[in-house]
Amino acid sequence: MITLAVETSCDETAMALFSSEEGAIGDVILSQAKVHSPFGGVVPELSAREHTRNLLPLLDLLLKETNFNLQKIDFVSFTLTPGLILSLVVGVSFAKAIAYTLGKPLVPVHHLEGHIYSVFLEKAVEYPFLALIVSGGHTDLFLVRDFGSYRFLGGTLDDAAGESYDKVAKMLGLGYPGGPIIDKLSKEGEPIYKLPRPLMESEDLNFSFSGLKTAVMNLIRKESKFRPEDVAASFQEAVVDILVSKSLKAMDTTQINRLVVVGGVSANSRLREVFREKSEELGFELYIPPPKLSTDNALMIAYAGIERFKRGITAPVDINAEPNVPLDKFGRLWT
Ligand code: KG4
Ligand code: ZN
Repeated sequence: MITLAVETSCDETAMALFSSEEGAIGDVILSQAKVHSPFGGVVPELSAREHTRNLLPLLDLLLKETNFNLQKIDFVSFTLTPGLILSLVVGVSFAKAIAYTLGKPLVPVHHLEGHIYSVFLEKAVEYPFLALIVSGGHTDLFLVRDFGSYRFLGGTLDDAAGESYDKVAKMLGLGYPGGPIIDKLSKEGEPIYKLPRPLMESEDLNFSFSGLKTAVMNLIRKESKFRPEDVAASFQEAVVDILVSKSLKAMDTTQINRLVVVGGVSANSRLREVFREKSEELGFELYIPPPKLSTDNALMIAYAGIERFKRGITAPVDINAEPNVPLDKFGRLWT
């Protein structure tokens, strides 16, 4: 079974060809980082325009690189939700046009489900497991009992972890996306500033990052001389502390000692290092995708699409993009 997968939820235009038997046939990805960098964040209208410009040339490139005949696909997988609505609309319309032209079914995928299954591209994980999804739009903890069975345990009450990276980078005038820049810069700094870790000690499994971002802003205003490296390292240490500590709490509460860490922020070198140390020290199973599968890509959408198709899930032709359907409500969209 072979799928073409299309991902346009944010600022990456990505497409992949994936076979359920052989794995990845090919994938292409075009980042719009350069377009958004001058604005310090993604500009939705520009993102949609870039997707519109790039989707067909990218498909062309994918087919040339793989020497693949598009007629041979069994269905088209695509990200339906969540994301920037203008960007999603472009990808959904594109996926529909291809499916209609080839007479193939459409399989909608939830972007966060794609992220969770990005680890399965390397190795299947046994159920049940916990998933920490940390991206530009989300910071959520889910209990995953099976494919399609997601229980929300907690999430951010304000900014997402990746969003706070992007905002702090903007404050420091470092460019976009902030995550990889701060990750790199932190290696040359020391976490000398004591920054707050909001909600870290709370009983629930929720997160909060906006107070941390404000604390960084106050620090920059107050200190006449500071090394951006040290501010970056101090901020990063706080984010990592919060994410690790809440994940450990989730494992404790649920008594599940299998953790999947996915989404753009899971590419962070310090986060990976601390999670690895903790997993060795405490003896839990840890799964993090390789960095290029942590950030948005279409292979993860293809994997989830295959799993959905195997379960007979296809979409009606009038399906439309949705900006924000929660993962645990996604399965009920068609019933
Ligand atoms: O999953 P993703 O590619 O897109 C969304 O679904 O949002 O995540 C993008 C986010 C951005 O906020 C970016 O700054 C962050 O992931 N990110 C990182 C790193 N690489 C990407 N954050 C921290 N360290 C990184 N190395
Ligand atoms: Zn994402």
